[in-house]
Parts: sequence; C-alpha cells; structure tokens
Amino acid sequence: MRLNLGLKRRATALKYARTVYKVRPDKELSALLLCHALEKGMGIPNVKLGYGKEKTEKLIGILTDMAAEGAAESYTFKESLAILKAYFRYQESTGVDVSALKSKASDLIEKYDTEYNGGYNIIKKEEFLKGKDMDFEGFVRSRHSMRTYSQEAVTEEELLKVISLAKYAPSACNREPWKFYTSLNKDKCRLIADAVPKQSFLDGIPYFGIVTADKALFNASEINQWYVNGGIFLGYLSAAFHSQGIGSCIFQFPLFSDTAAKLRADLDIPENEEIIAAVGFGKFADEAKCICADRRPDNEIAIIR
Ligand SMILES: Cc1cc2nc3c(=O)[nH]c(=O)nc-3n(C[C@H](O)[C@H](O)[C@H](O)COP(=O)(O)O)c2cc1C
Repeated sequence: MRLNLGLKRRATALKYARTVYKVRPDKELSALLLCHALEKGMGIPNVKLGYGKEKTEKLIGILTDMAAEGAAESYTFKESLAILKAYFRYQESTGVDVSALKSKASDLIEKYDTEYNGGYNIIKKEEFLKGKDMDFEGFVRSRHSMRTYSQEAVTEEELLKVISLAKYAPSACNREPWKFYTSLNKDKCRLIADAVPKQSFLDGIPYFGIVTADKALFNASEINQWYVNGGIFLGYLSAAFHSQGIGSCIFQFPLFSDTAAKLRADLDIPENEEIIAAVGFGKFADEAKCICADRRPDNEIAIIR
C-alpha cells in the first residue's frame, strides 16, 4: 500500500504535514536569519543604538521578493513582517531615525497584514519563577517510553494540541526546522511502522509519526545542526504527548536503507528534510510494563571542574 498523495488525500491524511505556502528555501533561511538578528537586538540588554539598518534593508528586499513569489501568506513572511514592524517601533522609541527604511518598506506594510507578534516583551521575575512551582520532577519521572498501548483513538484535536506544545522547543535562530509526518488512520501508520527496524511489539502501537528537520534551513557552516534541532523537538514532542495523556516511544531510524527511501516516497518527504526519528504513540493501556533502569549518577553526567 502506498499513500496516494493526490490533492484529495493530501487534504486529509497529511494535511498538517506539509508546508502550505511555497517559500524558496534560500529566501526563507535569509529572512529567518536576518529577522533573528533584528529581534535579538531588541531582546538583549546592551544593543548598539541604531543597530541593524543594513540587515533591515536586506530583509525588506527579501520580503518584497517573497511577496512577488506568492509567499505572502506564509508564516515566515508574516512573522518577518511582524519583526520588521517591531524593529521600526523599537528604533523610533530610542529616537533613531528609520524613516528612509520605513519608506522602502511602505509597500509591504500597507499591502500585507500579519496576525503574528514580533519584537520583545518585558517579563517580571515572578513569571520566570513560576517554573519552580511546577512539578517538573513528577512530570519527567512519570514519563516512560511506552511499548504497550490501548487501541483507543487519538483525536485530531488531541494531536494538534500536542504539536501546539512541542513547537515551543528552542531552535537555532528560532528556525523551527521540524515537521511531524503522521496520520490518524491506523492503517496508514503501518507504512511508518514497517519502516522501523523490526521489534516484536510494534504491531501493538496504534500510531506512528516521523520527525524531520529541514536541512535547507541551515547554511554550509551548520552541517548536522539539523540533528541537534530535530532532536530537541523530539524531546519536546515526547514530553508534549505525555502532558496530554498520550504515551509515546521514540524509534531510531535507519537513514541509509531501502525502508527510508520507500518511506520518503510514501510520505512525500522531500530530500531537503532529514529524517530524525520515528515516534510511536497512542493512548495508555490500563497498565503496562515499563523499563525501570536507574539513570547514571548525576556526577557522572555533570563534570564540574
Ligand atoms: C533516539 C532514540 C531512539 C530510540 N530507539 C528505540 C527503539 O528503537 N526501540 C525502543 O523500544 N525504544 C527506543 N528508544 C527508547 C529508549 O529505549 C528509552 O528512551 C530509554 O530506554 C529510557 O527509557 P524511558 O524513555 O522509559 O525513560 C529510543 C529512544 C531514543 C531517544
């Protein structure tokens, strides 16, 4: 069985797995990096007065090209526009004249809208300290890799809630290079299960997904950083599943294998995306065996010199 990736099916099984708006990857990377330089200037305590004008000019050029190429509805375009607007507000608030740049951006600002936020917030210490009152230890110690599941359905709403939490994973320059290819159709999930190295309990796992990271969002000096970013997302994803009462288990994925090639074709995973790992998931059984090995002692991990 092969996933039919015609328009109809794409609108159902994999509708959350694909980038909807075509953004040229080189433009997307440039916009993301320029935006991050601008937002970082707003987010650090000691930025140079009037910083970032050259980068802003470049960003305006890229956003103008992106709009001309039909990408004005993309997240990258809209978020970049939000950051550009925030940058102008910030510079004006510090008395810096950005009128020349603003007039270069006037078409973009007048013609296109954005529902996204950009810039910075000032957050009080009490807010940060809330993390200390959360039961993080209870949370992490109650998460286990699940190898036994109930066959109760996971709903689309539940899955999207998981994604809406996992996406708060940090990424280099906030590039968010990840995707999670999955289906709520258990039969289609077998396509992924079949690509995972054989393990006797795979048949009992109702759902599978694949985490990928987009190599096109990294430049030549950042080789392999997609594994770092994708791995962090993977960790957040398994925590997000747990937070929503859904069990999961990560599966190492054989990169250079026939199964990888078939899976790429089945799920329409483009070559620029690296497969990071597979993830099995589903609702908890009433009880399940879980491996209980202790972790290494802390002082074997923390090398405090
Ligand atoms: C990258 C990665 C690959 C893994 N691959 C497998 C796998 O192929 N099969 C499996 O049963 N568990 C797999 N696991 C789960 C680990 O065995 C599990 O995380 C580890 O034993 C610690 O147990 P815990 O997750 O229950 O705390 C993998 C975990 C990671 C992070």
